[in-house]
This record gives sequence, C-alpha cells and structure tokens, in this order.
Amino acid sequence: MNFETVSNVTLTKIGFGTWKIGGESSPNRSRDAHSLAALRSALELGYTHFDTAEMYAGGHAEELLGQAIRESTIKREALFVTSKVLPANLKYEQVLRACEGSLRRLGLEYLDLYLIHWPNASMQLVDTFRALNKLVSDGKVRHLGVSNFDLKLLKQAGSLSETPILTNQVPYSLSDRSYVRSGVLEYCQQNDIVMTAYSPVDEGNLRITASLEAIARAHQATPYQIALAWVVAQPRVIAIPMSANPKHQAENLAATDIVLSRAEMEQLNQSG
Ligand SMILES: NC(=O)c1ccc[n+]([C@@H]2O[C@H](COP(=O)([O-])OP(=O)(O)OC[C@H]3O[C@@H](n4cnc5c(N)ncnc54)[C@H](OP(=O)(O)O)[C@@H]3O)[C@@H](O)[C@H]2O)c1
Repeated sequence: MNFETVSNVTLTKIGFGTWKIGGESSPNRSRDAHSLAALRSALELGYTHFDTAEMYAGGHAEELLGQAIRESTIKREALFVTSKVLPANLKYEQVLRACEGSLRRLGLEYLDLYLIHWPNASMQLVDTFRALNKLVSDGKVRHLGVSNFDLKLLKQAGSLSETPILTNQVPYSLSDRSYVRSGVLEYCQQNDIVMTAYSPVDEGNLRITASLEAIARAHQATPYQIALAWVVAQPRVIAIPMSANPKHQAENLAATDIVLSRAEMEQLNQSG
C-alpha cells in the first residue's frame, strides 16, 4: 500500500467510497445485509480510509459504517473517517448541527476529515469556516477539506481555514480530466493539498480501450486496476473507489502496487 503525506497527515493512496451503501439519496434498509457485508470485507481486507457523507442514503451510510467499525476488532485510531456537510447546511449553526448528526450516526467521537460536500451559490464561506474552525478547536474534527471546489473557491477556503485544507475531493478518472484542465490538480500539487479522486473508475462504466487492455495484460491486471494505478501514480492524488464486491475491493487495494512505466503513463495521459 502506498501513501500520501501532507501537513503531517498520512493518507492511504486507496480509500473506500460509500455512495450507494445503505441506499442512494434515502435509506434502503432492505439492502442492509448486503451493505454491511461490503463494509466488513473492506475492513477485513485492510481499507482504513472510509469516505462517507450525511447525504449518502439520507445518513444511513454513516449508520452502517459506524456499525461495521464497532463490530470489527480494528481500533478507532487505525482508521481515517471522512464525512461531508450538505450544501444546504452551510450556515454556522447548521454546520455544527450537521457534524453532530454525522458523529451520532457513526457512533464516533471525532471525524478525521470533514468536507464541504459541494459549494452552493448563496453560501457565506466566512460563516461556514467559522463553524468548521470551531469543530477543529473543539476536537470534533481533526482536519478540514472541501469537495467540488473550483480554483477560486479552493483558494478562498485556504485563506479562511485556520488549519491547512487537507483535500479537495473531485471527480477524476481516465475519462474525466476537468480538474486538470481547470488548474486544480496543479495548484494542489504545488500547495501540498491532496486531490481525492472520486468516481475514479467511472462509476463502474470504465471505457476499456485497446491500449488500456494491452497495458492491463502486460501487468496481469484488470483494466480497472490500471485505471486506478494511473490515478494514484500521480503526486498528491489519492482515490476512493467504491465496490460491494470483495474481489474488486481486493483488486482496487492491490492497484497501488502496480508500477506503470513512463511510456504507459504517457499513453494513458494521452487517452483522456
Ligand atoms: N464528493 C462528491 O461529490 C462525490 C461524488 C461521487 C462519489 N463520491 C465518493 O467517491 C466514491 C467513489 O465514487 P463512485 O462510487 O461514484 O464511483 P466509482 O468508485 O468510480 O465506481 C463504483 C462502481 O464501480 C464498480 N467497480 C469498482 N471497482 C471495480 C473493479 N475493480 N472492477 C470492476 N468494477 C469495479 C463497482 O461495482 P461492484 O460493486 O460490482 O464492484 C461500482 O458499481 C463514492 O462511493 C463516494 O464515497 C463523492
């Protein structure tokens, strides 16, 4: 397993996403056994960074993640749990309440990382960060970050946060280079901010080209593993793929051990 260290915080190159664990935008309790099995196998395989949000399954993803953590033998300190506040909850009091809700559902005393899930047009970032900074000083949250922030907003967040912005979580995959084109990746790399790639395997709809397939064959890997290996080979980039399938979960973790040659990286760089 490879790591990325910024501001004295070490993050695994591959974490585990929880969108669709426990439902989609509302809870679907009929899938609980399936969702818990996915979380248990991820914990057993050695995932330590879990990405969730108050939005996922209307909070039920957090409940199931908390349950899976409590039922495992893994110590809290060995895990890194990220959650996110909804764009509709960015006023001072709302942020504090939203975080309490996430902690209660997770059954945790603190979050390792708390993100603004998405900017909203009317947000007052000064107000939002006043609350986020308080959560850090109260020990409810260890680190702060943002998600889906463009370059201008990311810089603004950096100037308002009393602790370093640890990450900007954005879509990034072989087929989605929008945050490279907008200069966000370069800014993150130059300013010790991790760019967390969400939907790194295109939500399971990876476009498998002949060249991707050839590279996969050369490494006795799957195209999905090569897609992830390409993402996490880049400095200051980590990825949080989601999979309910233990075989895929193991393959995704193992993708960090694949060393792509300079020529292969170049070929994949050109393929987007
Ligand atoms: N901040 C945001 O706005 C935001 C937005 C979207 C997502 N996210 C976060 O990012 C996480 C990942 O993104 P995502 O869930 O949208 O998409 P993703 O991780 O790109 O794709 C998940 C899908 O890919 C399949 N898959 C995963 N690994 C595979 C493999 N090795 N081989 C074949 N299929 C594989 C999974 O199917 P199986 O279950 O069958 O393996 C699942 O259907 C989310 O869970 C969430 O935590 C954040």
